[in-house]
Amino acid sequence: MAYSVENYLSYGYNCYMQKYKIITYGCQMNLHESEKAAGILRGLGYEECEREEDADLILFNTCCIRDNAERRAKGNIGAAKVFKRSKPQLIIAVMGCMTQQSGAGEEMAKKFPFVDIVLGANNIDKLGECVQKVREDREKSVLIDPCMTPEIHEDTPVYRTSGTNAWLNIMYGCNNFCTYCIVPYVRGRERSRKLCNVTDEFKRLIDEGYKEVTLLGQNVNSYGNDLGMKNGFARLLEQISLIKGDFRVRFMTSHPKDLNEEIVDIIASSPNICNNIHLPVQSGSDKILKLMNRHYTRDHYLSLIDMIRDKMPDCGITSDIMVAFPQEDDQDFADTLDLVEKVRYSGAFTFVYSPRKGTPAAAMPQVPKEVAKARIVELVAVQNRIVKQISAQMVGKTVRVLCEDVAPKGEGLVCGRSECGRMVTFPGAKTDIGKFFNVRINSGKSASLFGEVSE
Ligand code: SAH
Ligand code: SF4
Ligand code: F3S
Repeated sequence: MAYSVENYLSYGYNCYMQKYKIITYGCQMNLHESEKAAGILRGLGYEECEREEDADLILFNTCCIRDNAERRAKGNIGAAKVFKRSKPQLIIAVMGCMTQQSGAGEEMAKKFPFVDIVLGANNIDKLGECVQKVREDREKSVLIDPCMTPEIHEDTPVYRTSGTNAWLNIMYGCNNFCTYCIVPYVRGRERSRKLCNVTDEFKRLIDEGYKEVTLLGQNVNSYGNDLGMKNGFARLLEQISLIKGDFRVRFMTSHPKDLNEEIVDIIASSPNICNNIHLPVQSGSDKILKLMNRHYTRDHYLSLIDMIRDKMPDCGITSDIMVAFPQEDDQDFADTLDLVEKVRYSGAFTFVYSPRKGTPAAAMPQVPKEVAKARIVELVAVQNRIVKQISAQMVGKTVRVLCEDVAPKGEGLVCGRSECGRMVTFPGAKTDIGKFFNVRINSGKSASLFGEVSE
């Protein structure tokens, strides 16, 4: 199916540009999928608008990783009904992980009858077709069955909105079935893109002028397993490190069970690959790691951290950490705090465990809400203290920063990340966006660092 301008003109919308607004929830994977949806909609002749009330098509790209993500999406979808009242021709579409859950599409159609299109996250390539159908027959609501084993579509158009950084999917799905996690149920099994397709897209992005590319996968360290490759991620990084140009590479997410020395050696020896590893630990207790089905122990995790720091002393290591997983007692939580003190992450996303329907952990004995609340407060306080200490230690050092944007507060300031992933604000202008600078850090009281360009 070609989403051409001719297509769109044939629908008679040639005197008024139809407008779309995409609202995205969830992870980087979803942000990138919204860019694909935008590519498809632009091929149909739509252009982007800022406000939902100006849109002819509103697309919600949903997430269901935790209950609050799902509730937020549902609340906003419900609220979109008012726009439909004043503009009956408005098309409302919902896609993403939430609609991919079993029975969710039907439930959505019942709860939100004003929604025109419900698409699973694995069916994004059908978006154009669905929009065409709804435009032809406004009485029709299109419900697409979530497909769990989709083919990889290499030709989906992408309209990138991520500034100097480009997202690049290297694989889809997840095989790990951590007992708390809904992702394997909604995204299906691991499917890796062919190495040549990834490197071709990478080269195209660099030719187009992107200065940073982030490789995406739920567990990038298992890239290529489904293609029969041995240590496929190491092979992929090796190929990428051969590409010439002034750019840098990030990747996420690494799973501790599959991160190995060869991968770390390639990162350490490749100047373009950032010394920055997001290595979610989830818990510092062996008992909980086992119940989570994570396939590593606390000691193994700590030995990985030692190995990384041995090869890259300045490597930024970040994590995802969860509290109040079923059966987590005071000692288990103390083990998590102790691990956080030992590792000293330069950043961490912290979560309260949220039961997800159909996952094994949802059926385990749950931790009371008040206990969960107290634990997350304590964990956040410990992690914030560590980040402050690390920031203070960076004062006086010079780091290489890619200028990504003008700073949210303050005239004449710009911001961007250092190689190890820390956000740095420094004096500069809009014209500096997309350029690399050596920045000397002169203040760092919290998570944000401030500095000045040094030659
Ligand atoms: N594939 C990645 C990230 C998955 S989702 C990985 O394995 O690390 C991002 C984070 O959300 C997870 O690392 C985990 O910390 C958190 N998460 C996933 N399911 C959750 C749940 N049911 N409740 C709370 N946090 C959850
Ligand atoms: Fe979820 Fe675990 Fe897969 Fe990450 S590795 S997406 S946490 S099941
Ligand atoms: Fe991402 Fe949320 Fe789906 S975190 S993979 S959008 S459930």
